[in-house]
Amino acid sequence: MATAIYPGSFDPPTEGHRNIIERGLRIFDRLIVAVAVNPLKKTIFTPAERIALLKEMLGGQKNLEFDTFQDRLLVDYARSKQARVILRGLRTVQDYEYEFQMTLANQRLAPEIETIFLMTESEFSHLSSSLIKEIVGLGGSGKGLVPPIVEGKLKEKLKVR
Ligand code: COA
Repeated sequence: MATAIYPGSFDPPTEGHRNIIERGLRIFDRLIVAVAVNPLKKTIFTPAERIALLKEMLGGQKNLEFDTFQDRLLVDYARSKQARVILRGLRTVQDYEYEFQMTLANQRLAPEIETIFLMTESEFSHLSSSLIKEIVGLGGSGKGLVPPIVEGKLKEKLKVR
């Protein structure tokens, strides 16, 4: 059974993430969306809130799980879940260098774990969680970029009317 981990901050999850998850589900028998706690990133949603949003967006699919991890290496987390694959989305060439570096480091730490990339669909290639926070925070519409539930929670957090 091929298990893949799709790690990320998901602060908040976007339609771009949904796209990668839905396509990942067609490839892997079991997909675990793992909300990472990165102390260097300033986040507005707690890990539990991010998982709740992901469940609202994508819950109810039997081969899809949601989890969170912190204070440990991604490869050690993957091993603990018997996952041999790390799934990542690639948006633009700017992502390439960062992903290349992470993949090489992970390969060195855990040669048995492969990182597989899916190209983000072009309509989401400009999208990031920070950009969405900026747009919604300044009163713009998140339509088509995040689901209404995420936009609503973002407005609450950012105190936008
Ligand atoms: N659509 C839209 N946006 C996307 C996207 C997609 N398909 N794929 C990525 N993004 C955006 C995210 O929204 C995020 O935006 P932000 O920076 O504005 O928040 C950005 O791209 C990249 O973030 P993400 O994919 O969430 O990765 P990350 O850099 O926050 O975290 C981890 C990467 C969790 C995989 C990495 O930090 C990790 O492995 N941590 C564990 C510790 C460890 O093992 N370290 C050693 C690694 S070698």
